[in-house]
Amino acid sequence: MSHDLFEAARGAMAFAHAPYSKFPVGAAIRAEDGKIYTGANIENLSFPQGWCAEPTAISAMIMGGARKIVEMAVIAEKLPLCPPCGGCRQKISEFAAKDTKIYLCDEAGVQKTMTMEELLPFSFETELG
Ligand code: THU
Repeated sequence: MSHDLFEAARGAMAFAHAPYSKFPVGAAIRAEDGKIYTGANIENLSFPQGWCAEPTAISAMIMGGARKIVEMAVIAEKLPLCPPCGGCRQKISEFAAKDTKIYLCDEAGVQKTMTMEELLPFSFETELG
C-alpha cells in the first residue's frame, strides 16, 4: 500500500533544512526488510554542499542494514509532482530494479507512479553492476 509511504515522505519533509531554496522535499523508501526509511533535503550555506531528500533516505536505508528499494515516494510542498533530479535518479537506481515503483506525490497523496526504467531510461550500466 503506497499511502503509508506517501505519509512517511510527507512527514519527512517537515525535517527539511532548506533555508536557502525554501523548497522542502521529503522522500520515503520501503526496503526489502519491510521497513520505511525517510529523508529530507539538507542544504548548506556553501550551496553546492547541500543534498537532496532522496540520498538522505538512501543513507538511512543503508545504515539501517537494508540494500533494496522496493518502492519509493517523493514529495515537495511547492511542486505538485517532484520528479527526482538527475543525480538522484542515478543514486536511486543503484538500489532499485527497473520495475521499482517511484510515487510522485502532492499534499493529497500519490499523483503519479513511474518505474525506475521510466525515470532513468538508457541508464549507465557496466559489467560491474
Ligand atoms: N531537491 C531534492 O531534495 N530532491 C530532488 O529530487 C530535487 C531537488 C532539493 C535540493 C534543494 O535543497 C531544493 O530541493 C531545491 O532545489
